[in-house]
This record gives sequence, structure tokens and C-alpha cells, in this order.
Amino acid sequence: MPAPLTIRPVCPQDCAGVARVAYLTGFFGQSAQVYFPDRALFGALWAGPYFHGAGAGCFVAEQAGEVVGYVLGASDHDRYRLALARVVARQVGRAWPTGATLHSLRYLWRAARHPSPHADWQAYPAHLHLNLLPAARGAGMGRRLLEAHLSVLGGLGVPGVQLSTTTENVAALGLYRRLGFEVLDTRVTPLWTPWLGHPATHVLMGRRAPGWDWDPAPRD
Ligand SMILES: CC(C)(COP(=O)(O)OP(=O)(O)OC[C@H]1O[C@@H](n2cnc3c(N)ncnc32)[C@H](O)[C@@H]1OP(=O)(O)O)[C@@H](O)C(=O)NCCC(=O)NCCS
Repeated sequence: MPAPLTIRPVCPQDCAGVARVAYLTGFFGQSAQVYFPDRALFGALWAGPYFHGAGAGCFVAEQAGEVVGYVLGASDHDRYRLALARVVARQVGRAWPTGATLHSLRYLWRAARHPSPHADWQAYPAHLHLNLLPAARGAGMGRRLLEAHLSVLGGLGVPGVQLSTTTENVAALGLYRRLGFEVLDTRVTPLWTPWLGHPATHVLMGRRAPGWDWDPAPRD
């Protein structure tokens, strides 16, 4: 029988495990290796800010002592940008870039040219990321992680949370809708076309207070 899946708040020691999951799920639920071969840089940029000052309401899903998923979020966008800037500065002082780093810069350059849409940061100051390894999906952990995160945001009095996903992330769209998120904007993007083979569509979603008490459809 497989070990049970559990969730708990993140601790500083989870950074490597979270970075690993981020990398293994960073391309529409599959490995980011295809477009970002520098695994260490990916982990630093995607997970680092939440462990260096920006994180709020971050939880991990765990199985047999191993991180198999997470919800990462920041309740304040300025704080997130500051933490990201610190992480980037640390990376610039890293060892001389490898071939994998230079290859990965192509993606960063494309991401700067084709940014995902975002909502007004005053109305929706928080943002989040949610990912599970394939073997941990479909067992209610995504929902539990997201509910735990939203509860923390509610306690902090955050007025709204936004997130960016795509039409490729079918399960994620279902889960976000289920927990009361609505689509705020969509935008076709060529960002991933070299690796995906076709343009994707960014989907910006948001959820506003009051109270963060949602009325989910009953589980059957
Ligand atoms: C998105 C993700 C976090 C959802 O977590 P999960 O544990 O698999 O989902 P849950 O079992 O908690 O299901 C919660 C809800 O999500 C939706 N959902 C889950 N799997 C789905 C699927 N394959 N198709 C459509 N909707 C799905 C359903 O609405 C479901 O609620 P219901 O069971 O009451 O109908 C997970 O599938 C994942 O990591 N996917 C790959 C990475 C990703 O897309 N991350 C989001 C990036 S924005």
C-alpha cells in the first residue's frame, strides 16, 4: 500500500524539494528540462523568492518524507519583487554560466518579451503557484493545498489573489473554478511555441474576498 499523502506548512529545509517538484512539473505539468536545462537556476528563480522573504501561506504535500507537491504564494507583490531581485542578484554572482545556463536564458528572454497578463495588484495583491508530481494527482491534494492557502490569506485580510495558468492546464482550470476563481483575462502567447509546437493561451484568474468563504460544489 502506498504511503499516505499529507500536507503541512513549508519549512526552510523544503526549498530543495519544492524546487525539484517545480522543475519536474514546470512545462504544463511535465519537466521543464525541454526549455530550461539549467535545473539549479530554475529552482532558484521559481522557488527561491518564497523561501527568501516573500512567502505567505505556503504548504507542501508530502509522501514518505518526500515533497511531492506544493502551493507557494506571496500576499504582497512588492515584497515578492524584492525577494526575486535578491535571488537574481545572488545568481549573477554565481560561477561562470554553463551551456545549460545560456540555453535557459533563451526562455527568460522570451518570457520578458511575452509576459503573462496580470490583474491590478491593489485589488489582487496576492499570487500563487500550485503543482503536484504526476503520482500525487487526482487524490484531492491540490484542493487541500489550495484551501489551506486561501485560509491563510483570509486570516491575513488579503483582498484578492490572482494566478496565471493556461488552457493546457485542464485539471488546474477545473480546480480553480471549483474554488471560486474566475477568469479575468486570456491572451494567446507564442512563449512556449518552440517546445509545445503551437501557441498556448494564458488564462489569468482571480478570487476576491470578502471573507474567503467559498461555497464549493459538493464532492460526490
Ligand atoms: C492542478 C493540480 C494541482 C490539481 O491537483 P489534484 O490533486 O490533481 O486535484 P484534486 O484531486 O484536488 O481535484 C480537485 C478538482 O480539480 C479538478 N480536476 C482535477 N483533475 C482534473 C482533471 N484531470 N480534469 C479536469 N478537472 C480536474 C476537479 O474540479 C476536481 O474537483 P472534483 O474532484 O471535486 O471534481 C494537479 O493536477 C497538478 O499539479 N497538475 C499539473 C501542474 C499544473 O497544471 N499546475 C497548475 C499550474 S497553474
